[in-house]
Amino acid sequence: MSKKLEGTVALVTGASSGIGEATALALAAEGASIALAARRRDRLEALADRMKATTTVSVHETDVTDESQVEAMVANAVAEHGRLDILINNAGVMLLGPIEDAPTEEWRRMVNVNVLGLLYCTHAALPHLLGAATDSGRGVADVVNVSSVAGRVARRDSGVYNATKWGVVAFTESFRQEFTTRHVRAAVVEPGATATELAFHNRKEVLEQMAKNFGGIEMMQSEDIANAIAYAVTQPRHVSVNEILVRPTEQER
Ligand SMILES: NC(=O)c1ccc[n+]([C@@H]2O[C@H](COP(=O)([O-])OP(=O)(O)OC[C@H]3O[C@@H](n4cnc5c(N)ncnc54)[C@H](OP(=O)(O)O)[C@@H]3O)[C@@H](O)[C@H]2O)c1
Repeated sequence: MSKKLEGTVALVTGASSGIGEATALALAAEGASIALAARRRDRLEALADRMKATTTVSVHETDVTDESQVEAMVANAVAEHGRLDILINNAGVMLLGPIEDAPTEEWRRMVNVNVLGLLYCTHAALPHLLGAATDSGRGVADVVNVSSVAGRVARRDSGVYNATKWGVVAFTESFRQEFTTRHVRAAVVEPGATATELAFHNRKEVLEQMAKNFGGIEMMQSEDIANAIAYAVTQPRHVSVNEILVRPTEQER
């Protein structure tokens, strides 16, 4: 039986670790060729080495906050693979802490990566996705935006991360409405606590607080979120999964 994503090409941002890495593997297992993007080239190359026996894979060292790098990433991915059917906007940073006396550089990093980076990637990929929706066997293309439970539930000490992920949810819904008849689907995936490197970029005092909030629970693994993303993009043409909110069973809110 042919795989559901056979003949498609997926570009995954933030593929150098965590959810992005697991998603690249999950989509490849469904038959997609994969373009891997992030800043850490060595990590992307190592992943590509693991994948290349079974998948066509390319590496794109990219800082998504730089629009010209994003444009080059998309152009190079399309040049290497010949098309683009699926964009996974996964790159993100989470720098938590109180609003009072916050280092505003952390706010800029979150807005730049989580919001502007995602917008740049979507803008650059869109002409190719529109083309893929008309010329592919699937008759549909996909954008999956990785938001967070923080895009749905505001928490103290998470204000700016909340603002960025809330923005991702709103943008995804607006995008979805614009492209319904042109068959570029948009899904937002909102993970709860998942065991990745994400939290470890925080300041020491923030990490201590996070350990109090989440330390006791059984967290999800990156593969659990990758499965949700793969579910969204493997639906038939007439089915658009708009939103997946997925928490660890033990996470209260
Ligand atoms: N883990 C969780 O509990 C959780 C919960 C909800 C939502 N999320 C979301 O899931 C997504 C993936 O995070 P993760 O948990 O898998 O954490 P992670 O392992 O830290 O992955 C984050 C990825 O984003 C990339 N990235 C960061 N800044 C970038 C930039 N300027 N340009 C390009 N890529 C950049 C990183 O790659 P480089 O450093 O190599 O560039 C890395 O591959 C994020 O959007 C995060 O907000 C995670």
